[in-house]
Amino acid sequence: MWTFKELSELIKLKLGDRLLIVVSNREPYVNIFDGEDVKYYVPPGGLVTALEPIMEASGGYWVAQATGEADAMVVNEKNELNCPPDNPAYTLKRIFLSKEEETGYYYNFSNGGLWPLCHIAYIRPKFTERDYKIYKAVQEKFANAIVEIVQDRPAFVFIQDYHFANLAQILKGKLKNIITAQFWHIPWPNSEVLRILPFKEELLNGMLHNDLLAFQVQYHAINFLDTINRFLEARVEYDTFTVTKDLHSTMVRSFPIGIDFEQVSVLSSSKKIIDLRNELITKYRLKDKMVAIGVDRIDYTKGILERFMAVDLLLQRYPEYIGKFVYVQLGALSRMQIQEYRLLNDKLNDLMVAINDKYQLKGWRPIVFIRANHSQEIINAWNGIADISLVTSLHDGMNLVAKEFVATKNDTEGVLILSEFTGAARELTDAVLVNPYHVDGLVEALKLALEMPVEEQHRRLSKMREILKKQNIYRWAAKILSEILNFEFNESES
Ligand code: G6P
Repeated sequence: MWTFKELSELIKLKLGDRLLIVVSNREPYVNIFDGEDVKYYVPPGGLVTALEPIMEASGGYWVAQATGEADAMVVNEKNELNCPPDNPAYTLKRIFLSKEEETGYYYNFSNGGLWPLCHIAYIRPKFTERDYKIYKAVQEKFANAIVEIVQDRPAFVFIQDYHFANLAQILKGKLKNIITAQFWHIPWPNSEVLRILPFKEELLNGMLHNDLLAFQVQYHAINFLDTINRFLEARVEYDTFTVTKDLHSTMVRSFPIGIDFEQVSVLSSSKKIIDLRNELITKYRLKDKMVAIGVDRIDYTKGILERFMAVDLLLQRYPEYIGKFVYVQLGALSRMQIQEYRLLNDKLNDLMVAINDKYQLKGWRPIVFIRANHSQEIINAWNGIADISLVTSLHDGMNLVAKEFVATKNDTEGVLILSEFTGAARELTDAVLVNPYHVDGLVEALKLALEMPVEEQHRRLSKMREILKKQNIYRWAAKILSEILNFEFNESES
């Protein structure tokens, strides 16, 4: 099994004097005011959770957008600060954007355009020339900050996600001695869907300046090759998963991202978490109740409405669960400047109120909706309480929430209901797999989960835990580094 220590050693040995720089839009720590004081929180989303252990293992720099109201208060004159705040191991360099830049690059082009385009959740993507210009200008700003760090040293720049499709190209124009890899955390659609993107030739060409382009699952990597084949003059080799354009070759691969299994598992048996669980059970009157949980950013790709509908239908179809079953939704507000997100939030609220009104008994309501940015500890405690985890994304690159639920269950009791449209479903085939568009099917899956014999729960969870223990986040990082830095990945070590 790959561990933090092994990865740190590997990085030191193989990276040599190359500097490691991770670039993502989302920063790992956000500073906010608390009265006169400044405190921090860790933002929601799988990307940050996944990269933090790698940064801690490697040292180096993490370049990301400054998003907190107090972010400027804690950085030095280079806009840098040491992270994690309580136990520094690497340097976070913050990029400050104007309102106009944030709107054009983050809200409009990345999340109003590329996000719905890649997820195909039937929300219409919007693209304008103006937003694309700003999207590129912001990447230029990130590139300049990276140049300032690297100067003429050799470096490996590890770019994250769809906020930076042109970054490798911009960087390679400015720095000679760098290698770049880009990990696309979200799905890559088929070429017919991608066809509507007005700037596709330039954007795809930009991505091909990477030395390695990685996706969550093989299917997305194949979609990418097909897209290139269809829209660019390039040599696409399906047998070696390589694209060559203008004498430069890009390896296209899939590396399913994992979690720090040991850390989540150990945390869930700690006294602090066990006490927290008891507090939550008392606070929400959950003693003797069957509990299902959903943990999401409030996003239309996550299928949260479908879950609420399934709870309604479950109680209608199987009234014996009235008063006995509670669905707890932890929802972090997200991207609220975008209309679709605000609408979804309102719809969820209305539906929850209607369902709770319809069924509530004295001291019981079927849906508890807690809208907040929850800490890793709170999420761990809720996962520990839950008999069932409901992950019903309409489309998801991976979904680490599902993996964290499995890692929490040290006693192998509990059931994971998982959308077949998540990357995680390719590895977690022992989950109860569902099509979230089929709410009737969700209801039956819930019933199956509620009535699943304990031995069956043990069997399924044990198998999934074995997989996740092995395919952890350190192995993911080691595999990517081995591919890009051309050293041998020793399977037997993992
Ligand atoms: C997904 C994306 C990440 C993103 C996260 C949270 O996991 O792949 O790049 O950081 O969602 O979204 P946000 O817009 O809040 O960063």
